[in-house]
Amino acid sequence: MKYTKIRNTDIQPVSRIGLGSWAIGGWLWGGTSEHDAINTILAALERGVNLIDTAPVYGMGKAEEIIGQALAIYGRREDVIIATKVGLEWDGNKIFRNSSKKRILKEIDESLKRLGTDYIDIYQVHWPDASTPIGKTADVMHELYKNGKIRAIGASNYSPQQMDKFREYSPLHTSQPPFNLFEQGAVFDVLPYCHTYGITTLTYGTLCRGLLSGRMKSDTEFKGDDIRKIDPKFQEPNYSKYLNAVEKLNEFTQGKYDKGIIYIAVRWVLDHEGVDIALWGARQPEQLEVVNEIMGWELDREAKNTIEKIIKESLPEPIGAEFMAPPEKS
Ligand SMILES: NC(=O)c1ccc[n+]([C@@H]2O[C@H](COP(=O)([O-])OP(=O)(O)OC[C@H]3O[C@@H](n4cnc5c(N)ncnc54)[C@H](OP(=O)(O)O)[C@@H]3O)[C@@H](O)[C@H]2O)c1
Repeated sequence: MKYTKIRNTDIQPVSRIGLGSWAIGGWLWGGTSEHDAINTILAALERGVNLIDTAPVYGMGKAEEIIGQALAIYGRREDVIIATKVGLEWDGNKIFRNSSKKRILKEIDESLKRLGTDYIDIYQVHWPDASTPIGKTADVMHELYKNGKIRAIGASNYSPQQMDKFREYSPLHTSQPPFNLFEQGAVFDVLPYCHTYGITTLTYGTLCRGLLSGRMKSDTEFKGDDIRKIDPKFQEPNYSKYLNAVEKLNEFTQGKYDKGIIYIAVRWVLDHEGVDIALWGARQPEQLEVVNEIMGWELDREAKNTIEKIIKESLPEPIGAEFMAPPEKS
C-alpha cells in the first residue's frame, strides 16, 4: 500500500486507497451481511488500507455500527482513520439535507456512539444544504475541531464557490467529489481548486458502482433497493453503451498490462493530478484481494491517451453522477 497525509493536519500515514462503506450499510445496495461486512473491513485493514469512509445515512446508522464492531475486534483504534459525514437527515427511508447546528451537534454524538470512539478523524459535511447558510455550518464544524472531537474538517459534493464560502469561516482540510473514468466532472472544478488551496481529496465511486470492476454483464440482476436499478448508466439504452466501453477498455488493458479493467480503473484515479485518496466500495473480503496489485506501477501517457480515446468514442454523451444528489429540506 502507498500512503499520503491529510494536509495541514497531523493525520498520517493515510492509505491512498480508502474503504468505502456505503454498500456495507445495505441501504440502496439490496441489503447487507454483517458477517461479510466485518470481514471486509478487517481484510482492508490487513491489506494496509487504514482509511474507512462512512456516513450515518449508510444503512441509517448500520454502516457506522458495523465499523464500530470491526474496530472493537481490530483493537488498534489509533491506527485507523475514520472519515464519517454529517448533514443528511432521514425520516424512514426519506432523506433530505440538513447541516444546521442543531443537526450537526446531534449527529456527532450519535456517530461517536455507533463507532465506539471518542473522536472522528475526518468529519465531512455530506452535501451542501441550501436551507442553512454555509458560514453557520462551517462555524459548528470549526468548534468541533477546536474542542478535539474531530481531527480534520471536510466537505463532500461542495463546489469551489461553496468551499470558498466555507473557508471564510473555518479551515477546510478535505473534499470528497465523485471521480472515476466514467464520471470525470471534478477535473474541471473541484480537483484543480483543491490542488490550488492544499485541500486533500478523497474521491468517491472509483468503480462507478461496480461498472468498472468488469463483473457486470447485460443480464446482471440487482436485488431489493439496489441503486443500480435506477442508476441511469445501468438502464438501456445506456447500459449497453457502458458495457461496450468496459469491454474495449478491458481488451486494451489486458493487451498492454495483462490486467483486467479494475486495475486501470483504480490506477487511473490514483494517477490523476489532484487526487490524494480513492475510495473503493466493497462488502465482501474477496473484493479487496487485488488492492495491493494496484500499487507499484503507473499508467503511462500513451495508455492514458488510449483510455481517453476509447471513452470519448464509446460514450460521446457521458452521464454524470447527479442522479445521486439527495433532495433539499423544503
Ligand atoms: N460523499 C458522497 O456523496 C458519496 C457518494 C457515493 C459514495 N461515497 C463513498 O465512496 C465509496 C465508494 O463508492 P461506491 O461504494 O459508490 O462505489 P464504487 O467503489 O464505485 O463501487 C463499489 C461496488 O463495486 C463492486 N466491487 C468492488 N470491488 C469489486 C471487485 N473486486 N470485483 C467486482 N466488483 C467489485 C461492489 O459491488 P457488488 O458488491 O454489488 O458486486 C461494490 O459494492 C462509498 O462506499 C462511500 O464511502 C460517497
